[in-house]
This record gives sequence, C-alpha cells and structure tokens, in this order.
Amino acid sequence: MTLLGDTKVAGASASRSGEVIQIRGGRPLRGQVDVRGAKNLATKAMVASLLGETPSTLRDVPDIRDVEVVRSLLEVHGVAVSEGEEPGSLILDPSAAKSANFEEIDAHAGSSRIPILFCGPLLHLLGQAFIPDLGGCRIGDRPIDFHLDALRAFGAIVDKQPSGIRLSAPEGLHGADIELPYPSVGATEQVLLTAVRANGVTELRNAAIEPEIMDLIGVLQKMGAIISYEPNRVIFIEGVQELRGYDHRSLFDRNEAASWASAALATDGDIFVKGARQYEMLTFLNVYRKVGGDFDITDEGIRFRRGEAPLKPVIVETDVHPGFMTDWQQPLIVALTQAHGTSVVHETVYENRFGFIEALNQMGADIVVHPRGLDGPYRRVPRRALEQAAVITGPTPLRGADIVVPDLRGGYSHVIAALTAEGTSRVSGVGIIRRGYEKFFEKLTALGADFDVVG
Ligand code: EPZ
Repeated sequence: MTLLGDTKVAGASASRSGEVIQIRGGRPLRGQVDVRGAKNLATKAMVASLLGETPSTLRDVPDIRDVEVVRSLLEVHGVAVSEGEEPGSLILDPSAAKSANFEEIDAHAGSSRIPILFCGPLLHLLGQAFIPDLGGCRIGDRPIDFHLDALRAFGAIVDKQPSGIRLSAPEGLHGADIELPYPSVGATEQVLLTAVRANGVTELRNAAIEPEIMDLIGVLQKMGAIISYEPNRVIFIEGVQELRGYDHRSLFDRNEAASWASAALATDGDIFVKGARQYEMLTFLNVYRKVGGDFDITDEGIRFRRGEAPLKPVIVETDVHPGFMTDWQQPLIVALTQAHGTSVVHETVYENRFGFIEALNQMGADIVVHPRGLDGPYRRVPRRALEQAAVITGPTPLRGADIVVPDLRGGYSHVIAALTAEGTSRVSGVGIIRRGYEKFFEKLTALGADFDVVG
C-alpha cells in the first residue's frame, strides 16, 4: 500500500499526484463509509471564528482542500489554527487577527468561493477587507451581486478593482433591511456573518434556510448572537457588541451522503453511510424511494441499496431547501441511466450544471440536455430564465471510457459511472473530487471498488 496524500491506495506509486485513476467497473459497491462534517458548513463556521473575542473549537471538520484553503486564509489574517485533542477538530484563536496583504490573500484564496464571506467579519474586526477574484466550480458565472448589495446596505463602501474587491467601513456597520432576489445560500451567510456584530437590527427576507444555514445560526447563537427566523424565510438578527468563541460539532455532509446513496443505486450495491440523518435528507429519500431504491434508517446512519424491482424513471426539479438539492442531481442522473423509462431532471438553481453529461453519453448513456429547460403540467418550482433540463432514457448499459472531471459533483458522477460501466475507464482531474470528499480513495477502496491511481 502506498501513502498518497491522505490515502493509502493499493498499487499506487508514491510519486503519483492522485489526479488520474483507472477504474475497472461493473462491480457493486458494498460496505460502510463514514460521512463527517459538511463541507458547506465547516468552512463557514471557520470564518465565523473571526467574530469571537476568544478561541473557537470546531469538531468533525472534514479533511478536504476547501478547509485547507479557509485555514490558510485565516492564518494569513493572524488567526492561530491548530488541531484539537479530538481527531477532526480544530481550535481557531482570532486574538492576534490582523490585516493581510493582497499577495498573501490571493496566494491562498485558491479555487474557493469562501473568501467572499470574510467581508463582514474583517470589516467588524479591522474596518477593511480585500477579496480577490473568486474561484469555485465552473457551474455558472457564480455572481456575487447579492453579497455586495447586502454589504452596502450595512454601510460598507465597496470598491471593485481589477484584482478583486476592496471594502471599508469607516463609520462601522449598522443593521439593514434586506430582501434577497433569490434565496441564495452564500448571500444569506454573508448577511448572517455581518449582521451579528452590526449596530442595530437586521431583517433579512427571502433567506436561504438550508440545514447548513440553520447550523451556522446555531454556531452564531453559541457565540452570543441573537437570531430568530420565521417560516416565511424571514430572519431577524439583533446586533451585539461582543461575541465569544464557540464549541460546535458540524452537521453531517448530506451532499456526500446522497452521493454514496446514488452510487449504491447505480452499481446495484449496498452502502451504509455512517453519520447520515433522515431529517436533512427527507426530500432526497422520497426521490430515492420513487426510483426504486431502498433504505434503512438507524441512529448511527442510513443503509442505502437498490430494491428488488428494476429502477423506475422519475421527474425531479432541483430547488432551494426543502426542495431537491442541486448538488444531488448529478450523482442521481447516473443511476437514472439504469432506470427503465424516461426521466427528466430540471436544474433550476444554476445555469450550467450538466457539464458532466457529455462523458456519460460517451459511455453509452442516452441523455438529452435542453439548454432552455422544459415546461410541463407537473412543474412546481417557479420557472427561472437560467434553468436547463436533462431527459434521461434508460436502461442503457455503460461502457468504460476516458473522461475528464468538470467539477466537484459532476466529477463524482463520472466516478460512479465508471464504477457502473463494464470495462475500464480512465478518469482525469480527480483532484477536484478530493477537494470536496474526504478520504475519497480510501472510501472507494473500503467499498470494494477496483481501481488504481495512475497519475
Ligand atoms: C452554495 O453555493 C454551495 N456552496 C453550493 O454547493 C450549492 O450548490 C449552493 O449553495 C446551492 O445550495 C457552498 O456553500 C460553498 P447560491 P452558493 O448563492 O452560495 C445565484 C458544492 O458542490 N446568485 O445559493 O454560491 C447563483 O448564480 C457547491 O458543494 C446570484 O445571482 O449558491 C445561483 O443561480 C456547488 N447572485 C443561485 O443564486 C449572488 O450574489 C444559487 O446560488 C449569489 C448567488
């Protein structure tokens, strides 16, 4: 076994970068995977530590690149980050926080979008912030207009420069009355991280209410924030003068859990996802059952497998919570290539999230993408100009092919497709997947996947 980054992989030579794997497919994935803290909560909770006067402890932090990026950004701003006694925990001490220069920030911002969430905390702490141009998966143009409009509403001066955005708040930040044009997760987090220390009350309407948002509200309340929310997506935040550090265990990563569940469906496997919880996956579980998947829910996690009958086609519309998450559709589509009939997936959150489908069709799938979406009598999610639709006709046997990973969730789907296909596939760009899935190779090995790291 050779140690490769965070993983021992049979047959891998130590010099391999972990970017290219060769998969021999056609075998069901069977076994257990442990899903730890949510990528899309842990990274935000780390940023929130900047707001505390005392150190914070974050538990169940996933060992992924997005966490490393945020850790580096915190450290260039003088936050001391160290491993806690409990495995997978971090201690974040902001007492020496300071400004950082552009070169340092830009060098560490990497391909993440999280830096935009540093604005509010840095403005409270230092009266200024600089955010380099953002990265993140290429699944649309990923604008930040909602973020900047919100920061201006708090009284920040936003100066867009060629290399990024410089912000200042000479008069400090005051409560704001904000209505989001769309329940954006990131913009809601931006408002929460800014409002908690602003002078006065903030009312946020049309807010995102994803479980990761509610967990972040829990983190902020532990710090001393006063936050309430109503069933109609309205959140009230009463600014306070001082916040202290938190001790928090991140909720589980429901996107990773849904990915492994879809892998069990596609490969006719049987996977116990330790740490998965029913409540945060309710909508996913309904669709899983309609497709013909079976699951057993226990206190420790959820066991996912294909049912006895052949997989059935479904019509799915992605939506904001509590709808079907946009991050869940890519892995599910791989399973739908094996369903008996025609399925439709309407992607209503992002304008370019079907990039991974081309490779599936190369492998033998029959998927047609409608770039301007599709109407239909069954539609419940409000039509958006940017939406697209994928029509999947199955079952189609998949055969191995050489494929390049386009983005995090699409890339994971390529791996599921290669594991489902008969024959050998060569998947390049796997590093993107390891950015968002902790111990990815180790988990594939534990589930009996037959693969080698070849590049
Ligand atoms: C978060 O992205 C997640 N990323 C995404 O997961 C997730 O798919 C998305 O929320 C939706 O749930 C992180 O948390 C790091 P949005 P975010 O702001 O915050 C538009 C993954 O794989 N919009 O809710 O960027 C935007 O274009 C990633 O883990 C604006 O127009 O998503 C999109 O159409 C992929 N202007 C919609 O809102 C803005 O200023 C949803 O975006 C902000 C957003």
